Formats: sequence, structure tokens, C-alpha cells
Amino acid sequence: MITGKYPALRLRRNRKYSWIRRLVQENDLSHNDLILPIFLTDGKNKKIKINSMPGIFRYSVDLIPKVVENAIGNKIPMLAFFPNTDSKKKNNIGAEALNENNLVCRALKITKKKFANEIGIMTDVALDPYTSHGHDGLIRSNKILNDETIEILIQQSLLQAEMGSDVLAPSDMMDGRIGKIRKALDKKKFADVQLLSYAVKYASNFYGPFRDAVGSKRILKGDKKTYQMDFANSDEAIREVSLDIKEGADIVMVKPGMPYLDIISKIKNKFKIPVFAYQVSGEYSLIQNGINRNIISKNAILESLISFKRAGASAIVTYFANEIAKELD
Ligand code: PBG
Repeated sequence: MITGKYPALRLRRNRKYSWIRRLVQENDLSHNDLILPIFLTDGKNKKIKINSMPGIFRYSVDLIPKVVENAIGNKIPMLAFFPNTDSKKKNNIGAEALNENNLVCRALKITKKKFANEIGIMTDVALDPYTSHGHDGLIRSNKILNDETIEILIQQSLLQAEMGSDVLAPSDMMDGRIGKIRKALDKKKFADVQLLSYAVKYASNFYGPFRDAVGSKRILKGDKKTYQMDFANSDEAIREVSLDIKEGADIVMVKPGMPYLDIISKIKNKFKIPVFAYQVSGEYSLIQNGINRNIISKNAILESLISFKRAGASAIVTYFANEIAKELD
């Protein structure tokens, strides 16, 4: 038991100089904690600004080797590809998700060919970048269909695995998809492909800029509350994670990030498995806009990322990955 008390005990003594603060520091951020999301677009030699995400771009696939090389140079262990699909290729079942020449498949092929296993690649399993209604699943009579959607997600998973994806990340929130995808992967000899389940994904207001980036914002009908979680709940997060672990998830994701540090902490303490956090687009834009307008210091980026480590996250998907990696050097 700690018996000391003021004035014999003064906690400020351990904060006196930088060297002692460094010695007693409990958490740290390193390159090994970073996952970089990359947005893809059609065309050649295209680097297109995303208005709602200052400093973030969509790249055409021919530029991807350069983008990947830069990430490897920044010692980032893994990337995540997200496509901005041409609206002419979107339909109500998201068929473009199963096209082996879609943006994600092309980016996977070119990256794996050039860089093999120098860097990990994670791909989203969900239909929203491909559907004309912007939802993650199939719709009938205004209902998002669970089991029918999973059948397509299985095909999408197998295709991405075949194209070289290392980590499949189902972000759709359909019930039972982890087990079904795992089974299908194992049957097709993809036993080594990892499943990073977006086990805890909230129906959040912080996804706006991402939906703008992948072109689903204006077309999205209604909200995603019948499949993504209610942001008032946390017991439900535990149930989601325990099911996904039983179904074969290797890693679980909590999303969004900063408003859900309590959830990260609970899951890490309870299950002792790798938990990744997603600092989503709305969080990025809030911080970046604050920095651009001189309202907050650039150090807010590091502060936000360390908060995930403190909560127990093993890694963080963040649009700041390149920027912060350079600073860590
Ligand atoms: C969709 C998906 C979303 C994000 C990642 N995958 C948005 C959504 O569910 O509407 C959001 C990421 C971000 O906001 O940065 N399956």
C-alpha cells in the first residue's frame, strides 16, 4: 500500500524534467502501431483532393506503387485500400465488388507483384463502395438482408484473398459472417489469410468524410442503424466480440476511435486479444481542420494516437499514419 502523503509525497517530482518524464512514461507510439488507409480512383496519374479531408487524396492505381513505397519508407506495417467506384459501375447488389478488375483488386495485384510481403495489405469486406444505395448489404423492401448479403461477402472475400489480400476486414456488421467467411477461406486453401473483424462498429456520425471520399455520401438512403451498433451501448460490444472470436476472428476492430476508448479498454481487458482501433475520417478532419486554423497544436495528433495505446489498442488505422511516422523518426 502507498502510505506517503503530501508534503512528503509530491507527484510533480517525476515530472520535473524531460529526462524523468521519458523514464516514467507508461505508453509510447511507434511506427509499428500504424495502419494507413489509401483511397483509390479510376484513371491514370490522378491524385485527387478530397474536400472533406484536407491533406488526403484519392490515387489512381498506376500511382499506388509510389504511395506504397513511401509508406514502406515510413516503416508502416500495413495499408488498407478503399475504392471510389465510378457511379456508373454501382448497382443495387454491388456487383462491382466481385469484378476481378475493380480498383481494389488492381491495387492488390500491382502492390503484391512489386512489394510481395514487405508490407501487409488489408481490404474491406463490405458492399457500400459498390452499391447504388450506399448500404453495406442487399436491400429488399427497405430491409438490409443478412444471410443473402453474407453469400456475396464470401465471394468478395475469396476474390480479395486470391488477389493477394493479407487481412480481410469485414466492416459490414452482418450477423454470422466471420464464421462463414472463415469456413469458405479454409475450404479454398486460404487458411493463412487473416480475419480482422470490425466486430464493434457503431452507427456513427463521424464517417461523413469517408463516405464523401468513396462517393457514397450523397446516395446513402437513410442510416445504418439496423446493422451498425447503437452508440449508447457497451455490453453489446462484448457480445459482438465474443461471437466473432468464436467464429474465428484473429483480431477485432473498434470503430470509431476516440469516442470509444472505454470500449477498447473493456475488450482488451476481457478477451486479451489484439484490438485495433480506427481513428475515422470525421476524427481526422476535426483534428486537421483545428490544426489548419491554428486552433489546436499539431501535437494533438500524437496525443490522440497515444490515447488509443493507453486504452489498450495494439494498432491504429489512421489517416495521420504517414505524417506521424515521419515525426517519429
Ligand atoms: C464501410 C466503411 C465505412 C468506413 C470504413 N468502412 C463507413 C460506413 O460504415 O459508412 C468509415 C471509415 C472512416 O470514416 O474513416 N463499410
